[in-house]
Amino acid sequence: MSNIHFDYSKALRFVKESEIVNFQEKINENYKAIYNKTGKGNDFLGWVDLPSKTESSLLDEIAKTASALRAKSEVCVVIGIGGSYLGARAVIEALSPAFNLLKKKKGNPVMLYAGHNISEDYLTQLLQVLNEKDYSLVVISKSGTTTEPALAFRLLRRHLEEKYGAQEAATRIVAITDKARGALKQLATEKGYQTYIVPDDVGGRYSVLTPVGLLPIAIAGFDIKNLISGARQMETFVKEDYSIANNPVSAYAATRNALYNNGKAIEIMVNYEPNLYFFTEWWKQLYGESEGKENKGIFPAGVSNTTDLHSMGQYIQEGVRNLFETVVSVENPQNKLLVPQDTDNLDKLNYLAGKRISEVNRMAELGTSIAHVDGGVPNLRITIPEVNESVLGELIYFYEMACAVSGYLLEVNPFDQPGVEAYKKNMFALLGKPGFESETEAIRKRINQ
Ligand code: PA5
Repeated sequence: MSNIHFDYSKALRFVKESEIVNFQEKINENYKAIYNKTGKGNDFLGWVDLPSKTESSLLDEIAKTASALRAKSEVCVVIGIGGSYLGARAVIEALSPAFNLLKKKKGNPVMLYAGHNISEDYLTQLLQVLNEKDYSLVVISKSGTTTEPALAFRLLRRHLEEKYGAQEAATRIVAITDKARGALKQLATEKGYQTYIVPDDVGGRYSVLTPVGLLPIAIAGFDIKNLISGARQMETFVKEDYSIANNPVSAYAATRNALYNNGKAIEIMVNYEPNLYFFTEWWKQLYGESEGKENKGIFPAGVSNTTDLHSMGQYIQEGVRNLFETVVSVENPQNKLLVPQDTDNLDKLNYLAGKRISEVNRMAELGTSIAHVDGGVPNLRITIPEVNESVLGELIYFYEMACAVSGYLLEVNPFDQPGVEAYKKNMFALLGKPGFESETEAIRKRINQ
């Protein structure tokens, strides 16, 4: 059974149903290539059976590490970039109260993030916050060599050691990295940090269900067993029936590719719940890095409504008609709040009195989708019953599998990211990194021309 429902009926004004279902045969082949590991990038398919293969002993161990850090941290800083932080942040923000002020202090740490930018102001302010707080660090880098998290970790490690002394600091650091390679692995071994391994066959953006996502999520206080069990449920469900009619993964992959073939090159993920903002960020990374290559791919964008109806809404309604949207629609909020009756009714809102706020939100969603379809924007809809660990686990697996199936429809390798190296090479050359001497000379000539 799946809690995720996909509806492409509001795309059928823009694409024939036959163009969607015609992908069936290719999709069947793609599943076979994924399960039999015969397609492009097949050494990075460890995520496929990860939920069912995750031992409960690993989950128990992660929970134990998490509770030790929770007990002594008001703040936990997750250091990582791209796939090494977005999955954790997506789940944590989706499940957390919107306001940190609603959290208890110790025992339920506020999660902060570093290593995903090189901003001097951001890092300075983070250190200022940490001067006042008891904290711990989770540093995540599969390669163990990525500049942004390495730089942030150098600063934060120094701060932590000065605050607590080297011995206590080492108990407040957990490293998640490759089992043998990379500078982070070497550092962790030498300093005696507790470590978790990123499996060789799981790439960064598919790693949220490994310790990369699980440890920060557990530290934030959420149930990683339920997260994995939701993902496991989707893993089983997807395998049962590949048909576009019954399998939302197949239907989503087919529809977005049919739209792409009709000139819809931009997909906007839309949410009406602000706590899904980082889920969209995770999805953007997963799909952008997986599909955007060989001069092909749908550009993944995101909006949070109704906020963005007052900014991007204008463009979506009337701008260039090269986009489609996929709404992630949540059926049931966690809370109940009614619009109050007001005697004076000066704001003219009494017509809403007694209605739930979520009902107003639902009508905004429905009204927007009708307006956008009328304006020439195909509207896809993914419905989930509520936001909890288990449903998020299902949704994560849904998007991972759909990304792989979709990437294979596009005939790219959805598991590599060769384009990410270009900026790094130039940055290293400009900074005079040892080993980049000829690149340094060449780039300095270019900028001095
Ligand atoms: O999906 C990916 O592989 C990337 O986004 C990486 O996760 C990101 O570049 C960070 O890499 P690393 O974990 O090696 O520091």
